[in-house]
Amino acid sequence: MQKLTIGNWKMNPGSLVEVKKLVQSLDKVKVGKNVSVAICPPFVYLPLLKTKFTLGAQDAFGEEKGAYTGEISPSMLKNLGVEYVILGHSERRIHIGETDELIAKKIKGAMVAGLKVILCVGEPLAMRKKGMAASKKYVEGQLKKDLSLLKPKDRSKVIVAYEPIWAISTMPGAKPDSPEGAAEMIVSIKKITKGKVIYGGSVNGANARGFLERKEIDGALPGGASLKPEEFRKIIEAAS
Ligand code: 13P
Repeated sequence: MQKLTIGNWKMNPGSLVEVKKLVQSLDKVKVGKNVSVAICPPFVYLPLLKTKFTLGAQDAFGEEKGAYTGEISPSMLKNLGVEYVILGHSERRIHIGETDELIAKKIKGAMVAGLKVILCVGEPLAMRKKGMAASKKYVEGQLKKDLSLLKPKDRSKVIVAYEPIWAISTMPGAKPDSPEGAAEMIVSIKKITKGKVIYGGSVNGANARGFLERKEIDGALPGGASLKPEEFRKIIEAAS
């Protein structure tokens, strides 16, 4: 099966000059036929990258248009040629205060607009310390709430990204989950969604193969490593 490699640039890079440099280096990265690659840059860079890459956005509002100052609608993104949208990232849950209720509305809106949703779920460190059973229950709770507005048959269309919060490279003391740990959680997620599940959290050129060679894991969602062309190339190679 084709594995996904989705690069989440988060709120980077800081200038257009840097973006252009990054695009030039990424342009040279060869992508095999059996791998799907997409880049999720900040909104303002989407038009610039449009002709070069399959694109994803890092968020979208749940409504199509109207008096929602500062928001971007899923149909605006779709009309721009964007294919994917990341929703429910832990950084938005933590820093912006996004709730499961809001995320559920955003998922519904994005699906109606025809975007492919990448829903991020994952437990905080304190939960993983309680053990795998508690962590699975936590993630199951997130999924049930986030997918609550979808018909059961539409749940499998959502791509879930399992991103344990403690494994995200910018968290203090972060380290990647083990491929075994990620696969175990992903099997539990698949029992609920019956769709694709990818892994994110400190994925880099050196460890990508360990995750991607597992049949349970349908792809990777690197953050920091997607801003480093050589690292991103290695991840794509591992996915091929
Ligand atoms: P890192 O790859 O930098 O740990 O980021 C993961 C992530 O949050 C992707 O959405």
